[in-house]
Amino acid sequence: LTKESGLKAGTRIALRDPNVEGHPVLAVMDIDAVEQVSDDQIKSMAEKIFGTLDPEHPGVKTFTSLGNTVLSGPIQVLNFSYFQADFPDTFRTAVEIRNEIAQRGWNKVVAFQTRNPMHRAHEELCRMAKERLGADGIVIHMLLGQLKQGDIPAPVRDACIRKMVEVYFEPNTVMITGYGFDMLYAGPREAVLHAVFRQNMGTTHLIVGRDHAGVGDYYGPFDAQTIFDEVPEGALKIEIFRADNTAFSKKLGQVVMMREAPDHTKDDFIALSGTKVREMLGKGIAPPPEFSRPEVAQILMDYYQSLDA
Ligand code: ADX
Repeated sequence: LTKESGLKAGTRIALRDPNVEGHPVLAVMDIDAVEQVSDDQIKSMAEKIFGTLDPEHPGVKTFTSLGNTVLSGPIQVLNFSYFQADFPDTFRTAVEIRNEIAQRGWNKVVAFQTRNPMHRAHEELCRMAKERLGADGIVIHMLLGQLKQGDIPAPVRDACIRKMVEVYFEPNTVMITGYGFDMLYAGPREAVLHAVFRQNMGTTHLIVGRDHAGVGDYYGPFDAQTIFDEVPEGALKIEIFRADNTAFSKKLGQVVMMREAPDHTKDDFIALSGTKVREMLGKGIAPPPEFSRPEVAQILMDYYQSLDA
């Protein structure tokens, strides 16, 4: 905000980008109302959004550091920050995505939210959703905003996803897009917000798998699916493709949803923790192709090794 002290209803203020040097103006807001909220109210909001008040939760940490002034009023967006310049092929507004879906003549379209480089489980999840829904196409909609420390930066993820689509998907079945939003790590609540975004951009379905938008073990693995049972009938037009945990089955030689392989034990699946995968990539060891496509692994190994250089 330009100046917190001078805020009052009826004035126009500039909204600036806190993440970019010089804090360029992103939008102007005509203030309708200004409200000071107490620390207790902030806590109560944080608890409702994140389901926890743990100060170590990255979303709680950010939310509780934003001050106690709440503003409302119409916003006029002037630009989309650095996203258009830095991701000219990937960043799209909701209108642009809707238009492109129409141009392609797609009717049933499944959206995939991701903050990761897309390993085999992610890839097959998209393929399964498209096939089972009989969808015309998939819109991969990657998050291009800020993440927590240790997560993979957007340009690297973008490169991985582009490579994977180029090599492993039929032409004209996938749109690669991204949006300029910071990850909140609010699990189930964020899944509902994600569904609203994807409804606005014109997709008919959103994939929600295991621990969607989660972090640590704050949320149950499928809380982000069951929350949609509480959304009032008709409040959302978009439908949710609820996916079980997906992993490569050594027995079947393909990625499957675990609930669909009831005869399997844990050892029948290839499971690698995020920490293990990072460790391997950092040492220049590619994870098995059943876990990560070799082309994707190569981009990630180059990235991790550049960190050590
Ligand atoms: S998220 O924060 O954007 O949700 P991520 O990019 O890892 O993280 O996941 C994207 C989507 O794929 C989410 O809907 C998530 O639930 C789902 N997902 C990721 N990995 C798996 C998996 N192994 N099994 C099932 N769903 C998964």
